[in-house]
Amino acid sequence: MKFETNNGHLLWDGCDTVALAKEFGTPLYVFSQTQIEEKCHELQKHFVQKYDHVRVAFASKAFSTLAMLKIVEQQGFSLDVVSDGELYTAIKADFPAERIEMNGNNKSIEELEMAIDYGVGRIIVDSLQEVGLIAAIAKEKQKTVNILFRITPEVNVTTHSFISTGQKDSKFGIPIDESILFPQIKQAIETPEVQFLGFHFHVGSQLFDHQAHLAAVDIALDLVKLVQERFDYTIKELNFGGGFGVKYTDRDQPKPFHYFTDPMMDKVLAFCEQENYPQPAIVIEPGRSIVAEAGISLHTIGAIKELPGLRKYVSIDGGMTDNIRPGLYEAEYTGVLANKSDQANEEIVTISGKACESTDILVKDINLPIVETGDIFATFSTGAYGYSMASNYNKLAIPAVVLVKKGKAEVIVKRQTLDQIIQNEVIPESLK
Ligand code: LLP
Repeated sequence: MKFETNNGHLLWDGCDTVALAKEFGTPLYVFSQTQIEEKCHELQKHFVQKYDHVRVAFASKAFSTLAMLKIVEQQGFSLDVVSDGELYTAIKADFPAERIEMNGNNKSIEELEMAIDYGVGRIIVDSLQEVGLIAAIAKEKQKTVNILFRITPEVNVTTHSFISTGQKDSKFGIPIDESILFPQIKQAIETPEVQFLGFHFHVGSQLFDHQAHLAAVDIALDLVKLVQERFDYTIKELNFGGGFGVKYTDRDQPKPFHYFTDPMMDKVLAFCEQENYPQPAIVIEPGRSIVAEAGISLHTIGAIKELPGLRKYVSIDGGMTDNIRPGLYEAEYTGVLANKSDQANEEIVTISGKACESTDILVKDINLPIVETGDIFATFSTGAYGYSMASNYNKLAIPAVVLVKKGKAEVIVKRQTLDQIIQNEVIPESLK
């Protein structure tokens, strides 16, 4: 991994990470605003400005905080939310509702009402009951709601099976089956309270190959043609989801955004030309690829346990509670000792978390300088699905989040206090 140092200390967007650990405590998430903005600029240059009628919707599940949503908003991007909490965060960040798209495979009536009250730009329908529900709520509120259908394109992807979503046997999306999807489309076209815009798919996450995306684009375009023939209805929008892979370790070789977007757009433009079809708006929904590499986590080394001839366990003051990905997906990470980042590696250790769980191993067998209690371990690429999947297991507090830019650091999420951990707990009268 590439990184900068100063006096042996790891720098992150111009900030000394050892000083950050001292000032804000550990565990700590540190996000480089510059790196987030660079990713956004890459998308602007190679996608938004390159093609007509295209949009980027940041998948907020990757890192949904008020400050992050402000950054994304200022880029002119749209936003993908999947729950009342993500929608609420967006609204509190003053994210324009018409640029919000609501996904989710089991939206509650309350969530749909909330989305329609706020006036979100699109609701991505993911189940068979949803059109009827949306129509009923919209009718009552005298509104019209833009919808897309999330389809299951039945493509295979090369990623961990836990994060692949486009295969036939999936809880996500509506199968492309005449008897299931077509009655839905007919209903949507005939329902005045909904404006049926088109189709959405998301094939999976952390992908390095564009084959699955391209296969799914073909399927979506076939569907566009079928809808035209069958219903004499012109599709106005297609959403190709996210899933673009990032670098967690040097073994990962991620591709630039345009490796995915250019050939997808080529297919769309060729289709439109061939069929003399008006170009539908094209939306992509990247989450991880915008924010993962911009974020690192800082932990302080505590107990060190050497099992002779076997392994040296080096424990940190966090772990699966602030990064569940190794435990959940066997995800691999790498890192450095932030306070010894110019020293040569001398020993192989295993970085273990402090949760009471054997799978709470952050990095297995990492080569580091001699590790001592009090050292600061920095894990790279924890910006996506780290903070957003953090938990209070073992009643550990959710760490603070700091945003850094050119040597300046600002807290964007305060560290949870012990009181906050139990603030919603109640001792019933019967136990007093
Ligand atoms: N759009 C939809 C409809 C999605 O379901 C997802 C991710 C995305 C966009 C963004 O995907 P991305 O660009 O971030 O790969 N917690 C897992 C990832 C779950 C992703 C779920 N959906 C992880 O930590 O790897």
